[in-house]
Amino acid sequence: MKILMIGDIYGEPGINILESYLSQLKTQYKPHLIIANAENAANGRGITKKIYKSLMSLGIHALTMGNHVWANKELKTFIDEANIARPVNFADAPGKGYVLLNFNGQKILVMNVLGRTFMNANLESPFNAVDNLINKIDHDVSILDIHAEATSEKVALGHYFDGKIDIIYGTHTHVQTNDHRKLPKGTYYMSDLGMTGPLNGVIGVRKDIVIDRFLNGFSSPNIVADGKKQLNGWFIDTELHISKTIHLESE
Ligand code: FE2
Repeated sequence: MKILMIGDIYGEPGINILESYLSQLKTQYKPHLIIANAENAANGRGITKKIYKSLMSLGIHALTMGNHVWANKELKTFIDEANIARPVNFADAPGKGYVLLNFNGQKILVMNVLGRTFMNANLESPFNAVDNLINKIDHDVSILDIHAEATSEKVALGHYFDGKIDIIYGTHTHVQTNDHRKLPKGTYYMSDLGMTGPLNGVIGVRKDIVIDRFLNGFSSPNIVADGKKQLNGWFIDTELHISKTIHLESE
């Protein structure tokens, strides 16, 4: 199976570069499945129904989310009918922590989980939450998006689920890591896909705003950076054992 994974789509610049390059990526890689993280798609915070529909119309099969999942309240009104996985370790939240796709009669389980380190320590353990999920939902192939800050937590989850989940990757840091590989028991692993959005902001936000915040301890609210854009992702062909990172830039 060929799977294309797209890193965090950040605001209009992320949507625009994806619209420009996705058909080219489809021609080049011929993916059976395309999965993207879209928790920053609506101006850096959450997702709207309009953006959800436009992303699905590009040929994306499932979206995963993260810590900003509820930043746009509209999602609560349509998540139950959408191919959107919100973090599984929220207790009693709308929607589900997974999307179950069908490819040639195979059940593909796409999961999303939040890390706790430097994030929200009150969440259910991502180890337990994902363990429960893979034991509960019948599936043939499994893919996990770990939306987390700490690389150590992602690597630990990768090894903990090595051999139990087919593909594991991280999102949220917005910087692509250089560690994609097969773990000892056969799981494809990568710590962070990187971001699909502005190239010269600070992880998506206009740089002057974030520099001000570091210098002064406060600043004006975040604004999505403009200028050059980047698209980051990962492609895997499980039959030919191909693992290839993707990084594209545009004006
Ligand atoms: Fe995030």
